Amino acid sequence: MKKYILLAILSLVVPFLLQANEYGLRKDILLENGWQFCRGEESPESVWKDVTVPHDWAIYGPFDRGNDLQNVTVTQNNETKASLKTGRTGGLPHIGTGIYRRDVELSEEDLSGKSVGLLFDGAMSNAKVYVNGILVGSRPYGYSAFYCDLSSVARIGRNSIKVHLENKPESFRWYPGAGLYRNVHLIVTDKVHVPVWGTKVAIGHSGPDFASVRLDVSVDGLPSGSVISVLTRIKDGNGRIVASKTDTGRIYDKLPFRQNFIVEKPVLWSPENPALYSAESEIFLNGRKTDLYTTVFGIRSAEFIPDRGFFLNGRMRKIHGVCLHNDLGPLGAGINVSALKYRLKLLKDMGCDAIRTAHNIPSPELVSLCDSLGFMMILETFDSWSIPKNRNGYNLYFDEWVDADVRDMVRQFRNHPSVIMWSIGNEVGEQRTAEGYETALRLENLCHEEDPSRPVTCGMDQVHSVLDNGFAAALDIPGFNYKVPYYKKAHSVLPQGLLFASESSSTVSSRGVYFFPIEKKGDVMHPDHQSSSYDTEYCSWSNIPDDDLAADEDYPWVIGQFVWSGFDYLGEPSPYDTDAWPSHSSLFGIIDLAYIPKDRYYLYRSIWNSSSPTLHILPHWTWPGREGKTTPVFVYTSYPEVELFVNGKSYGRHRKNNSSEMARFRLMWDDVVYEPGELKAIAYGNDGKKISEEVIRTAGKPDHLVILPDRTALSANGKDLAFVNVKVVDRDGNLCPSDNRLVKFTVKGEGTFEASANGDPTCLDSFRLPEMHIFSGELTAIVRSSSAKGDMTFTASAKGLGKASVTIHVF
Ligand code: GAL
Repeated sequence: MKKYILLAILSLVVPFLLQANEYGLRKDILLENGWQFCRGEESPESVWKDVTVPHDWAIYGPFDRGNDLQNVTVTQNNETKASLKTGRTGGLPHIGTGIYRRDVELSEEDLSGKSVGLLFDGAMSNAKVYVNGILVGSRPYGYSAFYCDLSSVARIGRNSIKVHLENKPESFRWYPGAGLYRNVHLIVTDKVHVPVWGTKVAIGHSGPDFASVRLDVSVDGLPSGSVISVLTRIKDGNGRIVASKTDTGRIYDKLPFRQNFIVEKPVLWSPENPALYSAESEIFLNGRKTDLYTTVFGIRSAEFIPDRGFFLNGRMRKIHGVCLHNDLGPLGAGINVSALKYRLKLLKDMGCDAIRTAHNIPSPELVSLCDSLGFMMILETFDSWSIPKNRNGYNLYFDEWVDADVRDMVRQFRNHPSVIMWSIGNEVGEQRTAEGYETALRLENLCHEEDPSRPVTCGMDQVHSVLDNGFAAALDIPGFNYKVPYYKKAHSVLPQGLLFASESSSTVSSRGVYFFPIEKKGDVMHPDHQSSSYDTEYCSWSNIPDDDLAADEDYPWVIGQFVWSGFDYLGEPSPYDTDAWPSHSSLFGIIDLAYIPKDRYYLYRSIWNSSSPTLHILPHWTWPGREGKTTPVFVYTSYPEVELFVNGKSYGRHRKNNSSEMARFRLMWDDVVYEPGELKAIAYGNDGKKISEEVIRTAGKPDHLVILPDRTALSANGKDLAFVNVKVVDRDGNLCPSDNRLVKFTVKGEGTFEASANGDPTCLDSFRLPEMHIFSGELTAIVRSSSAKGDMTFTASAKGLGKASVTIHVF
């Protein structure tokens, strides 16, 4: 009997011990709370504030014209003399120094026979990390992740961490954010361990029958020539083991430990089916288990075939991509997973399947989300090499740091199936020089050394130079920014037989704003510093979306495009950047700074989203004073034919056709005469039968607020966000498209107000105060869950419209 009781007790205790042991092998703890922050150099008078990391010190504002004024000649925008640029980096106070400090407690167990380090996913910028007063690491480039080994400075008990950061003026062409804007990890492992980014997965054959998977594992802390055993289990997305083996062998300084596997009948990764696998590797030295390291990867093939195009898993497809800057609009640069997810959800619904992280090394959270939600990626390093675009840009660091920055990016992200290409730069000045191609080759080789499986590109705009001087020829895949008219020539003179739009379009628009008459023109400027949502205005160097959509359709060797840009971002308010304050954020976005789609979203959706139909009418239909005036109507649709009606009167049926570049992708009624009432689009199928209809109506007097959160249930983790759309509508629920009144917010219960935005690049309301003006009838308020379960109630109120509330569950 006693024996059975003992066994029963053991069966309870043993799994617990095992678990504790497994956990004890490797700790990766996010250092989020407990930080203090001060601006400026440290002194006895410094005011330290409690902050949570990720933290962006500048997003709280206030906006000011004087923040990072830049007197520059933007040669890539065809400028020939210097002029004062306002709002170029967002008009927010990110310049200067800032210091973060916190303590960590380490026990004897954490230190004996252990390796201890700090991993920064990125720190903006010029980071210097001190632990117990000793400099343990530094990194100038704010988008690079870096690891600091603390083994020789860490002690039992309290350890102080201090991080000094400095953003120099004129370092960027956009808002970079400021501070510890990405996660900081404390990593404790056995001395014998897999270092950060220490594995490399290479997929050999991959098909529905089987895949061959090669895994290289580096192990640190061993005398060279030690014999180790590695047990790796490959698991599918449901946690089932699909391959497993133990190998024993010698390990040499420069050679990782290599294992090969066959995965039978793999589920291939694609944007439509983003299946993931993981390799869990246990490291044994003399029979002692010293580490357990998990590598997430995917099985897929990506082939770039000259003249034929891009093939994923053997199937040709066009890349429907967007470029994304790093900032999250009103949330600033501080990383937040639920904001990233919401962005990707909006992009997915548009039919977007790829992202170019322009021009920055992304956060690991974004890349993992692209793996699991299904987006292909180009990860891009820099906006400049040695030749400066800005006084204090990457040119200051290029010679000393470029190798580390490139290698680390590739090591960090080479196992992610979403990543299909590396980009070594964007519109770098070296494009124009005779020797530029040598640097391109050198950086390309660095990528290949760390990851021979992926091609390398660079975004190029100096088409004449690069076709002539070897720069474009040196790249695995040439990427062009806004160069559709030169595609045929580039294809005929370059050796690769393929190219793509690393940036396309750069059309500018402000949500809900339309100007008459419609002008299809570059550099159109309006007195209110907005751009027309008819999607016909662009910059001197760019074009309308239709040109790139046509190139995708017309040339098999154009493998796709990355639209500039998926979302509006802070800074670069072209065409209103030359002393045009207040203007602080871009107008290039398909989606505005408030995460609200502009009309252009539906243009791309109508072509890219093949699983859900699009029928979208523009402009809005509330134009007091325009009665009797010509007011063109566009319909962005995936349906073959549409008939337009104003108050029941037909303006005729239209199909897309080749009569003009725009007629190919948009349905346009140029001669519609405005009269208040109802604008209706009826869509017909190829059989002539009605399939769908869309109606918009002239709004009456503003009557009440309507609020709609993207989600009504959030996790009680203190970080989950809901994006609450707030609209001003008339009695019947029609959007009042020119309303711009102030709305105030309160949040009660288990959540807090986080930020808000209205998408107006000229609005100086703080993103972080619980009030914001409506812009074109709408805005977005963002609320954050607390760490306790319960409900939160969000209320919006505005003069003359009363209040509206919504309850969000926090669970
Ligand atoms: C490109 C540049 C981007 C952005 C864009 C705006 O030339 O690479 O960073 O400035 O223009 O159109």
